[in-house]
Amino acid sequence: MSYSEGNPYRPGAGRRPPVLAGRDALIQTIASEMDRAYEDETCDQPFVIWGLRGMGKTALLNYLVERAADQDWMVISVEAASDESLAKRISQAIAQELRRYERSGKPLTAAFKFARSVLKSFQLKFDPTGATSFGFNVDPAQGYADSGDSAMDLQDIMHALGDAAREQGSAVLITIDELQEASKADLSALNRALHGIGQEIDPVPLVFVGAGLPDLPAVLADATSYAERMYRFFSIGSLSEDESLEALRVPAMNKQVFWEEKALRRAVEFSQGYPYFIQQSGRCAWDARTVRDVITAEDCKEGLAIAQNEIDQGLYRSRWDRATDAERDFLKAMASIGAEAPISEIAQHLGKRDLKELSVVRQALIKKGQIYSPERGKVAFALPGFDGYIRRITAVSPG
Ligand SMILES: Nc1ncnc2c1ncn2[C@@H]1O[C@H](COP(=O)(O)OP(=O)(O)O)[C@@H](O)[C@H]1O
Ligand SMILES: [Mg+2]
Repeated sequence: MSYSEGNPYRPGAGRRPPVLAGRDALIQTIASEMDRAYEDETCDQPFVIWGLRGMGKTALLNYLVERAADQDWMVISVEAASDESLAKRISQAIAQELRRYERSGKPLTAAFKFARSVLKSFQLKFDPTGATSFGFNVDPAQGYADSGDSAMDLQDIMHALGDAAREQGSAVLITIDELQEASKADLSALNRALHGIGQEIDPVPLVFVGAGLPDLPAVLADATSYAERMYRFFSIGSLSEDESLEALRVPAMNKQVFWEEKALRRAVEFSQGYPYFIQQSGRCAWDARTVRDVITAEDCKEGLAIAQNEIDQGLYRSRWDRATDAERDFLKAMASIGAEAPISEIAQHLGKRDLKELSVVRQALIKKGQIYSPERGKVAFALPGFDGYIRRITAVSPG
């Protein structure tokens, strides 16, 4: 007999966790900034959240988006991609938000109508013929968002949006996920636009939150040197033991299902504080129950074996499969050293004296989010346990 229905755990990408554990302090910081932006009608320093894949950046952004939407804010939420212009994605999201507002039947203020025209000007850049009007049949606003300077134009549309929101008694939240994917030119435009809007004499209520991989702060600084002083950077990492306990225990408890203490310990140890593994182990332990209202230590053990297998066959394997031969050699050398390895030792393992050659592979692996640099001269696996997996499948021993 199994009891898999009603499973509250949500392993995956960007899926809303049943309990968003361990992020209270950061949420509080951003939420109070949002309150302030709204009350004072201002736009303060933009936020950047960075962390490894699976740490919960998207889940956190989604939480903020929901919070803003609940308060009737205008919400512009996009994901950057390497193969599409950021401005285009932003303008599509703005169009969608403006249309949503129109449909709500609320009266359209002058500022709203103006924002619509500024958006039109902004869009003519990607679509000079105006064929895709994004549903708006309006004339472009002459002299706004049409300078051809991407930063100034972006600032114009942000400002117009902020004005419209203010006139409706709300504010604007802009979130951009996977920001490290955007091109250098797009990031430079974004930095300059946000820099400009934060210095306007006539400020608008607007909050910006970007998120991305650990190299994002460096990528932003590379686009514009003052980026390191302009943003407020926050990293999100693994959950503590208590936070992991909460993330596992509470969702079940809310459904009248209780973890045996030993089962909980096992799942926490298995998860290593990694939010993705917390959801994965929670889901498998839940499904392995033989008793309706208890997750016993025995059942949990079964569940975790299944979880491990799913992670091996899914997450780890797809990463391994996507790596090139040179990347695999690099990863193998790393894994034979441990979860973290000095570049010099990897070079030794590979019998390479040419560090430049290695650095190309290293850079590609960082870009793919496979590894990161915890300190100068060192690299570490981005995914917990990936080193063990590589040792298992290639049968090399650590040390
Ligand atoms: N604070 C958290 N507590 C518990 N689970 C979380 C938390 N944040 C994210 N998760 C879960 O972890 C997984 C990865 O989250 P996601 O937001 O996609 O990470 P990222 O965007 O950093 O790659 C998802 O299954 C999500 O439900
Ligand atoms: Mg994400």
